[in-house]
Amino acid sequence: MLRGLFMKSIKSVSVFGLGKLGACIAATLAQRGFNVLGVDVDPEKVRKVNQGLSPVDEPLLSETIIGGQNHLRATQEHSEAIPTDASFFIPPSPNLPDGSFSSEYLLRAMQPLAKALREAGKKGHLFVINSTTTPGSINRVLVPMLERETGWTCGGEFGVCYNPQFIALGNVIKGLLEPDLVLIGESDVESGRLMEEMYKRYNRNEPYIARMSIMSAELTKISVNSYITMKISFTNQLRLIAEKFPQADIHAILDAIGTDSRIGKKYLRAGLSYGGPCFPRDNRLLAYTARQVGLEAPLAEAADRINELTRQKLFEHVSGMLVPGDAVAVLGMSYKPNTCITEESAGLHLAQHLKRRGYQVLVHDCAAAPANSPSLLEFEFIEDLETIQKRKDIKVAVVCCSWPRYKELRFHPETKILTPWKTWFEDTRPEYENPGRL
Ligand SMILES: NC(=O)c1ccc[n+]([C@@H]2O[C@H](COP(=O)([O-])OP(=O)(O)OC[C@H]3O[C@@H](n4cnc5c(N)ncnc54)[C@H](O)[C@@H]3O)[C@@H](O)[C@H]2O)c1
Repeated sequence: MLRGLFMKSIKSVSVFGLGKLGACIAATLAQRGFNVLGVDVDPEKVRKVNQGLSPVDEPLLSETIIGGQNHLRATQEHSEAIPTDASFFIPPSPNLPDGSFSSEYLLRAMQPLAKALREAGKKGHLFVINSTTTPGSINRVLVPMLERETGWTCGGEFGVCYNPQFIALGNVIKGLLEPDLVLIGESDVESGRLMEEMYKRYNRNEPYIARMSIMSAELTKISVNSYITMKISFTNQLRLIAEKFPQADIHAILDAIGTDSRIGKKYLRAGLSYGGPCFPRDNRLLAYTARQVGLEAPLAEAADRINELTRQKLFEHVSGMLVPGDAVAVLGMSYKPNTCITEESAGLHLAQHLKRRGYQVLVHDCAAAPANSPSLLEFEFIEDLETIQKRKDIKVAVVCCSWPRYKELRFHPETKILTPWKTWFEDTRPEYENPGRL
């Protein structure tokens, strides 16, 4: 039980890391009436928040910052967080070559505050870790550092919670305020109680609040994403099998399977490979965690392999329609709509591989551009969709991300269009090929 922790409830929160996730957490907390101090090492992000501007691109974030402006302030100075009741830490946790995630940024963000708390003699602080961690690393690395720096005991004079979020970029604000699940890993009962009570005031819905040990929560976090990647890869594996049977229709098969309530329709659509900053790496982290304890995680590894195969099949299909030197347009470079993130996206993978094989690759996206996604610098970037639709020389256009704008595209009749979604174009443009069967 926390000693010296006198607060009945969390009223003020400091949020360390005002990036894609942290800025949204800070803004929503402020909008819901908590007093929030944002802390970031990036002066530009601090300046923007203090001017009521959004430090990152995310739908609804600007409005949320304005809505919470009276309760939100930002600084570069870690020690200003001393008077807050709880500190949320959301810096990057980049993956390392072996599949684990680095704790370096978390250490660098947490250490100065721990030291400052000791110097100020302020006991009873709650450290909340939101960044995704390698299972086991909070108890093995972060808690010992906090105990060393403060000279106090975790669960005694300060508390620690692991509280990862299950959000999707492009829908972060709603995902935070109306989640299915709030996950709280707690060092002690009092710390967990404080977090649960806070979420009851913060959430607009009544999510399931799962409280457990920090170790269990670390495993839960990556297992959710690993399970979803397994489901996506299952559909893509089934599609590869079904295409070998001329009378089999993968969409009819998946529709039927998804109506079984034990399975459900979500993520059960023949599409492309999964990508983005969370799914692939969280899944690989589960495999890494298994290896650390002398086990294998064949399901997680297979999901990864099938994902690679799905990308490879798309490349083979598209390149089979071209001869070297042909122009090909890849539309949709972000890994999903409403974000400019291109990390491990199907579009980026396809464009890179086509370019390496000598095709003339043009790319377009509704949010990603060379200015915010340097990975696009190597391609001819299409600014203007109107112009490209008139070009006769584009042999194939492949839609790799379901931006609604692509539904209205009308290409030159000699351009073949590939779209991976069942309902896309099929209804209105039956002549378009549907690579549901790759
Ligand atoms: N983005 C997502 O969809 C998502 C979803 C779930 C979990 N996560 C996890 O959240 C964490 C952060 O992800 P993100 O996408 O928001 O990262 P990001 O790179 O967009 O933002 C990180 C922020 O932390 C700041 N920062 C770095 N060191 C700092 C320090 N010492 N003190 C204060 N601020 C510091 C950076 O300047 C940056 O603004 C990662 O662990 C990620 O896995 C992200």
